[in-house]
Amino acid sequence: MSNSLSPETVSVVILAAGLGTRMKSKQAKVLHRAGGLTLVEQVVRAAREVASPENIVTVVGHQAQRVRDAVASHGVRFAEQTEQRGTGHALLMCREMLANTPGYLVILYGDCPLLKASTVAELVRRQRASQAAATVITTHVADPQGYGRIVRDAAGKNVTAIVEQKACTPEQNAITEINSGIYCFRASELWTRIAAITPNAASGEIYLTDMVEALAAAGLATEPMIADEEELLGINTRLELAVANRILRARKTTELMLDGVTIDRPETVSVDLDVRIGRDTIIEPGVQILGATEIGEDCRIGTGSIIRDSRIADGVDIDAYTLIGTSRVGAGAKVGPFARLRLDNDVEAGAHIGNFVELKKTKMGAKAKANHLAYLGDASIGGGSNIGAGTITCNYDGTHKHQTRISANSFIGSNATLVAPVEIGEGSYVAAGSVITYSIAEDTLAFGRARQVVKPGWPSKRKGQAAKASK
Ligand code: UD1
Ligand code: CA
Repeated sequence: MSNSLSPETVSVVILAAGLGTRMKSKQAKVLHRAGGLTLVEQVVRAAREVASPENIVTVVGHQAQRVRDAVASHGVRFAEQTEQRGTGHALLMCREMLANTPGYLVILYGDCPLLKASTVAELVRRQRASQAAATVITTHVADPQGYGRIVRDAAGKNVTAIVEQKACTPEQNAITEINSGIYCFRASELWTRIAAITPNAASGEIYLTDMVEALAAAGLATEPMIADEEELLGINTRLELAVANRILRARKTTELMLDGVTIDRPETVSVDLDVRIGRDTIIEPGVQILGATEIGEDCRIGTGSIIRDSRIADGVDIDAYTLIGTSRVGAGAKVGPFARLRLDNDVEAGAHIGNFVELKKTKMGAKAKANHLAYLGDASIGGGSNIGAGTITCNYDGTHKHQTRISANSFIGSNATLVAPVEIGEGSYVAAGSVITYSIAEDTLAFGRARQVVKPGWPSKRKGQAAKASK
């Protein structure tokens, strides 16, 4: 990438001011997600492939602040278009920011998430190598209704005009090569002419597509670059959103499989675009792996499991229907089936978390086990400890949360109730069914339950009394 102001500088304008009425949504169109990312964020990422952030301007209008927030982390700039008066008008909103930037200007739409970064790079490469003033991405479609049509010169080489649907003559109406709306201009040629484009007589909008004729009038050419139709899909409705989502997810699972991940029935699996998965890991059907999750090598992710924003080390076995959120699982650990690592947990190497066990803000030490039916919240469990079935940490007193600390190699009997704050010393035992309200030292056994009462013959005596009473 060239530095920020040279004759080779690339700037990008992303048009994202529209509401997207046909989405029938309270939310601006570009904030909807496909492949786990907002549409606009994906376009910003493609733009970053060819331009540095200070040379990328996103035109915002509807829900401007929320659109800004969605991509602010990339360090890009913004222009406001309060009224959407056309694609050319949107570009005029960036004139002050960009008119003195030499080099090349790329136009992208915030609602085209399938456009590959490599295609944007190819567009810029073609324009750089060409004598033309602009290059426009086009494609041939079966049904061109609604798109601007590409009119080529007599030789069929350059584009002489882009004609919007409403203005088409019958011959132009039959043209199947359409305008994607994605262009690369020699920046100076665009900025010196755009202000002279007059609003369209019928709609009152300023059309960026009119630049092609403005350039032609000055003897400057626009060249077409034909791209794959799939990449140019613009999202207008929720149906198109679903199509884009399916394509993005298929691209992701394909990439993972080619990198050595086994995916059983990939069409049933949802993996967000930023997820990383190591070789020889097996993903079973119906799994969702979301957000910034990283999974190591040689793991198994069981059917129906959902993992979000978590780090799973090598050789971890996650059995079916396990939910993991913002947690870390160490090498060789076993989790599930039906386990829930709700939030901020650290499960260390070789630990076991079994069925119907819920963890929240809990550290499970190396090789510690909680194999069945437990709630461990705001707790730390020392390495090698065993947590019996039905153990509950009572971490909440109705107002505050409290910690439970269980030291290494402890044994917590089944159905123990640990009323926090409470500590169990190293190597200690808690008897089954105990309610533990006081901390216990190391190497200690604690009972906290009523003593068993035994009454031999009581049942038959009771039956005898009942028989007498009914006579
Ligand atoms: C535009 C093109 C058309 C092309 C089609 C491809 C024009 C005049 N027409 O038509 O040739 O085939 O895209 O999809 O350019 N936007 C703004 N501010 C505005 C207007 C639009 O930010 O004032 C944004 C929209 O949010 C959208 C994009 O620009 O992301 C395209 O706008 P849209 O109204 O969908 O353009 P089309 O009429 O479909
Ligand atoms: Ca459109």
